[in-house]
Amino acid sequence: MSDNYSVSPEGEKYPLPKPEDYSLEFESLKKRAEEERAKGREIVVVMGVGFVGAVMAAIVADTTDKDGNPTKFVIGMQRPSERSFWKIPLLNKGISPVKAEDPEVEPMIKRCVLDKQTLIATFTYEVLSLADVVVVDVQCDYLKEDLGNVRTGRVDMEALESSLGVIAEYIPPSALVLIETTVAPGTTEQVAYPLIKKIFKKRGIKSEPLLAHSYERVMPGRDYVASIRDFWRVCAGVNDESREKVEKFLNEVLNTEKFPLTVMDKPIESETAKIVENSFRATLLAFMDEWSLFAERNGVDLIKVMKAIKVRPTHNNMIFPGPGIGGYCLPKDGGLGVWAYKHILGFEDDIFKLTPMAIDINDTRGLHAAQLTRDALRNMGLPIAAAEILVLGAAYREDVGDTRYSGSEVTIRKLAEMGAEIRVHDPYVQHWWEFENQDVFPGVGHSKARFFRNQEKLKDIRIEPDMNKALEGVGAVILAVRHEPYLELNPDDVVKAIGQPAAIIDCFGILDDDKIRRYIELGCEVKGLGRGHIKRIKDSVQKT
Ligand SMILES: NC(=O)c1ccc[n+]([C@@H]2O[C@H](COP(=O)([O-])OP(=O)(O)OC[C@H]3O[C@@H](n4cnc5c(N)ncnc54)[C@H](O)[C@@H]3O)[C@@H](O)[C@H]2O)c1
Repeated sequence: MSDNYSVSPEGEKYPLPKPEDYSLEFESLKKRAEEERAKGREIVVVMGVGFVGAVMAAIVADTTDKDGNPTKFVIGMQRPSERSFWKIPLLNKGISPVKAEDPEVEPMIKRCVLDKQTLIATFTYEVLSLADVVVVDVQCDYLKEDLGNVRTGRVDMEALESSLGVIAEYIPPSALVLIETTVAPGTTEQVAYPLIKKIFKKRGIKSEPLLAHSYERVMPGRDYVASIRDFWRVCAGVNDESREKVEKFLNEVLNTEKFPLTVMDKPIESETAKIVENSFRATLLAFMDEWSLFAERNGVDLIKVMKAIKVRPTHNNMIFPGPGIGGYCLPKDGGLGVWAYKHILGFEDDIFKLTPMAIDINDTRGLHAAQLTRDALRNMGLPIAAAEILVLGAAYREDVGDTRYSGSEVTIRKLAEMGAEIRVHDPYVQHWWEFENQDVFPGVGHSKARFFRNQEKLKDIRIEPDMNKALEGVGAVILAVRHEPYLELNPDDVVKAIGQPAAIIDCFGILDDDKIRRYIELGCEVKGLGRGHIKRIKDSVQKT
């Protein structure tokens, strides 16, 4: 990246705005907003057009009244950083800045930008002065300092705090600020409210800030749009007027008839709901880690055990953890809560046991997949050092292209530490930036590379799109994600493509017993997370 350009993931270069561009941009948007307001449309500024904000902006822009007339004009506001500015010109061409498997995303953004002309993107903060509603969708990260110890990390509120600062500088006092970012509980009332109030005071504004919180439950994947628009929402306001305004806004833009809103008394309750919701799921997943090891060591197939238990309706939300728990939310959200208890809410005692432990277990589960690979190769008389290993699946969950904090990353880093050579295939991922750009991604000094040795060569990892080419000659294949194409893989075809028997590691209950048996008959060594019964199948093959 140069000093003057922002480069999109597709490699297109967009010059960053110059100082003189700002006033021109604002004047034209001001005129545009006046025209839109004259049509009876509310002006909504969405701050941060990333994964969540880009799609939320389009959902709001798509809103119509009963007669099908648009009721909102949306300005997507994005800071013009080298890393993110490209999202603005892309959006203004009607192209989604986020890659989504949901076929609704691209046409909805195109429709709103080009046909309905209810969505536009900009880099100037001044548009905030035009807003009736500001929706905040910037990130709030949790920075971990160690692998497997969430407690030594901290919340990074820089983007959120600076966004709130500029919002307070520019908005009309009557505008509602709706924070959708997942925040540390207490943030809306104890950080955002005083910050806005202080700046309002400097501006001579006497009225109370109108501030609300409503968290996103968006799920990357095929139902991306529906997971925002057609899904239940929780919200709360800092005062009665904020509460009324946020209820009105969400009732207008979301499908709350089918998916009713839950309105809480206080923002800290809405904020806590998000953190507890995700910590609950992270804990369920972590709980299975110890039983997965138990199963491996005692001839038990945990996949069948869970299937047996899930027949009971009270227990049917059990989930098998795979090689780690990724995605943007589950690895960090509990950390936001634990950190807030001390640093925002001011308590010194330590009440948290399960929440941080669950995150630590989930963050290190990928290491075990690497160990199973080492063991399987050893059983075949092959050392892990210099072994060629193919990882099938870079994404954090099935049938999405989202690689954020995926379990496969930790597995690969551990394997590289042990000297293995890595190949990767994933039908949904074109670039694995966590490796390709590990010096700067997900931030300078934040790569998980720093928790392992021997990571330099992982920069050369490229996703091999041709599965047969990826398989050719490998010593081990790790089935890391339940992507649809991997469920169908036939052992005879796999071994033929490899050209020799190999170690096959099943991290996600992908192989049924017939496939396990067939791989063993073909001379492969099979191991799997939570799959202690494989030894039995091996013995029975050897007897026949
Ligand atoms: N992605 C998910 O799957 C998901 C699911 C549920 C909740 N969330 C929550 O939604 C929030 C946003 O997540 P995301 O995935 O969209 O993040 P993201 O990093 O994709 O997007 C954030 C955007 O905000 C922009 N930004 C940062 N500071 C800004 C500023 N001062 N002014 C204007 N723009 C600024 C960034 O450049 C970026 O484009 C987070 O709190 C996250 O926890 C995300």
